[in-house]
Amino acid sequence: MTTLATTSTVPAVAAREILRRRTFAIISHPDAGKTTLTEKLLLYGGAIGLAGSVTSKKEKQSTSSDWMDMEKERGISVSSTVLQFDYKDYCVNLLDTPGHHDFSEDTYRVLSAVDAAIMVIDAGKGIQAQTLKLFDVCRKRGVPIFVFINKMDRPSRPPLELIDELETVLKLAPAPVNWPLGDGPRFRGVFDRQKGQVNLFEKTAHGAFKAPLSVAGIEDDQVREAMDDDIYEAVTQEIEMLDGLTEPLDIEQVLAGEQMPIYFGSAMNNFGVQNMLESFLELAPAPAGRVNGGEMVSPNTDNFSGFVFKIQANMNPRHRDRAVFVRIVSGIFERDMQVVDQRTGKKVRLSNAQKLFGQDRETLDIAYAGDILALVGNYDFLIGDTLTTDSKVVYNEMPRFTPECFAYILNNDTAGIKRYRSGMAQLMKEGVAQAYRVHGSSQAVPMLGAVGPLQFEVLQARLLSEYKVETRVESPPWSVVQWFKENEPDTARKAQDPPKVNLTSGCVLAQDQDGNWVVLLNSKYLVSFVKDRNEHLTFR
Ligand code: G4P
Repeated sequence: MTTLATTSTVPAVAAREILRRRTFAIISHPDAGKTTLTEKLLLYGGAIGLAGSVTSKKEKQSTSSDWMDMEKERGISVSSTVLQFDYKDYCVNLLDTPGHHDFSEDTYRVLSAVDAAIMVIDAGKGIQAQTLKLFDVCRKRGVPIFVFINKMDRPSRPPLELIDELETVLKLAPAPVNWPLGDGPRFRGVFDRQKGQVNLFEKTAHGAFKAPLSVAGIEDDQVREAMDDDIYEAVTQEIEMLDGLTEPLDIEQVLAGEQMPIYFGSAMNNFGVQNMLESFLELAPAPAGRVNGGEMVSPNTDNFSGFVFKIQANMNPRHRDRAVFVRIVSGIFERDMQVVDQRTGKKVRLSNAQKLFGQDRETLDIAYAGDILALVGNYDFLIGDTLTTDSKVVYNEMPRFTPECFAYILNNDTAGIKRYRSGMAQLMKEGVAQAYRVHGSSQAVPMLGAVGPLQFEVLQARLLSEYKVETRVESPPWSVVQWFKENEPDTARKAQDPPKVNLTSGCVLAQDQDGNWVVLLNSKYLVSFVKDRNEHLTFR
């Protein structure tokens, strides 16, 4: 891939700003500690003053990155948020991803906007289902992965076994940056393999303040005394063995997605977090460009460009507004600048970009490649749109995912039909679900498709809280959608007329929201049967 030729680059001050940015997400299986780690990073970034029990799900409280009631009630983070803070010389853009069991397209979209990911693993459990799914998305997108093995203060699986599992399952070379000294009640700290020194763990009340750190050599009496003899012996042996078992940390390999730096610690106790943050910021890449027609657009190109990866309405009930989230790929954003939406060809003035922090917001005057803009107001953008001052740039960053669940979300209250319609229209714009029309169906509302059923729950909860409409769910029998093309397109056929497809019972023809014809099937076992009967079609 080549770098797009540029007539000029951004001014030196902007180039420096871009270079110091780190845009990343924290990903994990639910309960591994993503929220707790996020909170501790914010603590170090000075973005919040006191971290502690605010992640308590039992008390139904939420971190600064939660917005919706549903998130608080269920203790899950449904919508993704963006948090920006400075740490030392770096400007950190931390994108929050939903961490629930169900997988939504939202998660994938957020990962299109980051340049690196921190994957939190529960030391007692190792790799879990959701970790793997998220990892696959990151790998497909070439996003470098940093691993934080959390909850070392609890009984953990043997660390050698954990890194072996990471290597076998993820097929990335492990590069432990530090090594734990014991686990559970006998956890005493970590050995920093880069610096060759021990960071001793001192417990603080609920990990509420920045953890005090005492540093020593592995041979020091202080370290020997802190640890039981058997643990000390086992750990010193492991540390020696590691040099033979693992390759040294190599940043080139990390950025190429071949190696993963691994850190051990305890987010709740605030241990190992600051070291991990500092090492991560040093190693993680500065904002990467994105591909435009086979060529990489450099972040330092002076033409502004970016893409919409998320839209969310009614984030703040007091404001009743809509935010369009844009990842800036290149150049500088300046307040009131004019860009073109490449989908519509329309010129749009970006007069209201905001920096959001939970419920707080401030107007943004300037932002750089790597930053996330939250455009608040009546912008008519859709997910995937490219906004740019360069007529040649169009990004194709938003994959369309194949739904695995289908439902009709029907209005229960005839008096609220207008609110139902406008709510559905808005939420479809946000990409909460995909819409399908079954051919020949008398159903007035479209059938919806989603990657996981939680998307329908989110839709219903938002229709109720934001549009005051009660709905019910009806489940159609379909579980598989297949797109197809006619090998020899019938040019005489009108777009609204269905193509000739030989179907059997258990499948129907339908159109997706872009008007493409699809086959819906009630079982994946029917797919090959339908393919065999339709050799004049190519299925994707
Ligand atoms: P998530 O966002 O990945 O879903 O996980 P979250 O941070 O909410 O953490 C899940 C649970 O694990 C929380 O307990 C949290 O306190 C706990 N936890 C996180 N990091 C550590 C750690 O380093 N050590 C230990 N021992 N526990 C940790 P909870 O019972 O669900 O909530 P709470 O009432 O304890 O706050």
